[in-house]
Amino acid sequence: MTLPTEVTIVEVGPRDGLQNEKQLIPLDTKLQLINDLAAAGITAIESGSFVNPKWIPQMADSEAVFRGLNREAGVRYTALTPNLQGFERAMAAGVDEVAVFAASSEAFSQKNINCSIAQSLERFADVMQAARENNVAVRGYVSCVLGCPYQGDVEPDSVANVSKALLDMGCYEVSLGDTIGVGTPGSTTQLLETLLRGIPVEKLALHCHDTYGQALANLLVGLQHGIATIDASVSGLGGCPYAKGATGNVATEDVVYMLNGMGIDTGIDLDKLMAAGNRISAALNRSNGSKVASALAH
Ligand code: HMG
Ligand code: MG
Repeated sequence: MTLPTEVTIVEVGPRDGLQNEKQLIPLDTKLQLINDLAAAGITAIESGSFVNPKWIPQMADSEAVFRGLNREAGVRYTALTPNLQGFERAMAAGVDEVAVFAASSEAFSQKNINCSIAQSLERFADVMQAARENNVAVRGYVSCVLGCPYQGDVEPDSVANVSKALLDMGCYEVSLGDTIGVGTPGSTTQLLETLLRGIPVEKLALHCHDTYGQALANLLVGLQHGIATIDASVSGLGGCPYAKGATGNVATEDVVYMLNGMGIDTGIDLDKLMAAGNRISAALNRSNGSKVASALAH
């Protein structure tokens, strides 16, 4: 068992979290959240999404978000781009790094991005080409790696094929999305053992939704396999609009607390992170979804 000594947290709350909110969120609330996260020491913040605003109205103001950011040195402000149109919007808005998002299930690919997996990879190849010309790094996501809301089981080999395709086309890393949080330490182990036969561990990140309360356990399995990049969402914000019943990502506060307890460095100040989570929870008029933040509330 080789645990990493340092872990990079990719904070996805401002995108994966807020994209699923029914109420319209004021621009200032989004900017405050992103600035609070940077002040807490987060170095990668997924801050918006350049998708069709008719599909995801909550992300329609991503241009304004990037325009309004108080950029901190050393922080990557990133965004989702599903196609060339999205990439061009992202470049005009000054995004540091983009992410393309594929699925390991055909049914989810159709519902989420309105095309087959193969078609999505063709679109992403265009994004990769443009990104190379602009010197912009591209992250890849694979959704439904441990189960699909429409199709059910997903074979680890399907995840491996899509992950390899994204890496081969130039993504620097693939984030494995348990979109509906159904995975367990058992299925996570099986998945990682399949993937690690052909993919170096430095190329993989874990993106766990906590729908079934398995996220921290699954992340521990990932750490034990050497994974050192973890996506999380402050106060457990979020879900996916095309995955019915999917709740938020694992709460960043809970991940940082666990990593602190294991002596693994993240560079994040837990108190400031909890303050960020408390502020956005109050703005959304709900209790903080992080267990650690609730336990330490005073
Ligand atoms: P489409 O309808 O197939 O696209 O959507 P199209 O190319 O046929 O174009 C139709 C219209 O969309 C046109 O406008 C385009 O201009 C417009 P019209 O002529 O009708 O007025 N359009 C765009 N507008 C702005 N920005 C763009 C853009 N592209 C097209 N980039 C598309 C295809 C992918 C765009 C659509 O399906 C879409 O936006 N889907 C959104 C999916 C999404 O954001 N899902 C949530 C994020 S994924 C996720 O949460 C999972 C993740 O967290 C990991 C995990 O948990 O597993 C990442
Ligand atoms: Mg997600």
